[in-house]
Amino acid sequence: MYESMKGMLAKANAEGYAVMAINAFNLETARGVITAAEEMDAPIIIDLLQDHVKSFFDCDILTRPIIKMAQAAHVPVAINLDHGSDIAHLKRCLHEGFSSVMCDASAYDAQENARITREIVELAQIYGASVEAEVGNMGRIDESGALLTDDDMYTDPDVAIEFIRATGVDCLAVSYGSTHGDYPEGYVPTFHFDIVEKIKQATGTPLVLHGGSGAGDDNMRRSVEAGINKINVGTDYMIAQREFVARALAENPGYDYPTLVEDSWRAGVATIKHYIEISGSAGRAR
Ligand code: 13P
Repeated sequence: MYESMKGMLAKANAEGYAVMAINAFNLETARGVITAAEEMDAPIIIDLLQDHVKSFFDCDILTRPIIKMAQAAHVPVAINLDHGSDIAHLKRCLHEGFSSVMCDASAYDAQENARITREIVELAQIYGASVEAEVGNMGRIDESGALLTDDDMYTDPDVAIEFIRATGVDCLAVSYGSTHGDYPEGYVPTFHFDIVEKIKQATGTPLVLHGGSGAGDDNMRRSVEAGINKINVGTDYMIAQREFVARALAENPGYDYPTLVEDSWRAGVATIKHYIEISGSAGRAR
């Protein structure tokens, strides 16, 4: 069942759970996401990162077969452009059939972010697609593994509340402690759940946790309680596949390559199923 995130997240919001949004970058990794969701009877979002779409597979080629897979799935599946900051490219993705887009204008000031987002919300309505936006910015990890965070990264709840009212977005990514990518060994980030609670109480809008990998299961469960209805995970899915490939080649350097590719996405399915369990979305396909 191919859907936009709108109805999916409205149901999650009403019933108090989060839908997992998993980064995929080709047909195999998208198949892994759908397989995990079907095995857990859960709704799911395939997050296609703008940079991956641009570098690995132009959107008009990639979208069609993934939409076909989504249509054939036994569970609701949305395709979301993740971190769409190139507005011309984002518009093209809407045209090519993405059921959801994240309009990431968070690098601009709040007013300009709202102006750009509002325009995309109006355009997306024509396509029946849903829109995610972001206020605040996630910290990040540099090449050496050092965590680069500061007070500016946190979402100001009052700015987010005004932003939601001004734009009419379907869901909003908020920054309250997580960071994209892999954390240094043993590091568990501190989350400020009050930011999520305040925005949720004022607006009732589905909110999004980015940088789910390594956030910690407890932080995720508490995020859902605070009002998060979409959780993004990318890195942990990729790591599960990379570790499988490394092990498989160490044990058998002559591993048949097509079988290796096939077995590697299957090796990532367990990681997604774990997060589906934590998010509370298992068994919520209907
Ligand atoms: P991680 O790769 O840290 O899980 O983050 C994924 C994400 O938030 C994509 O937008």
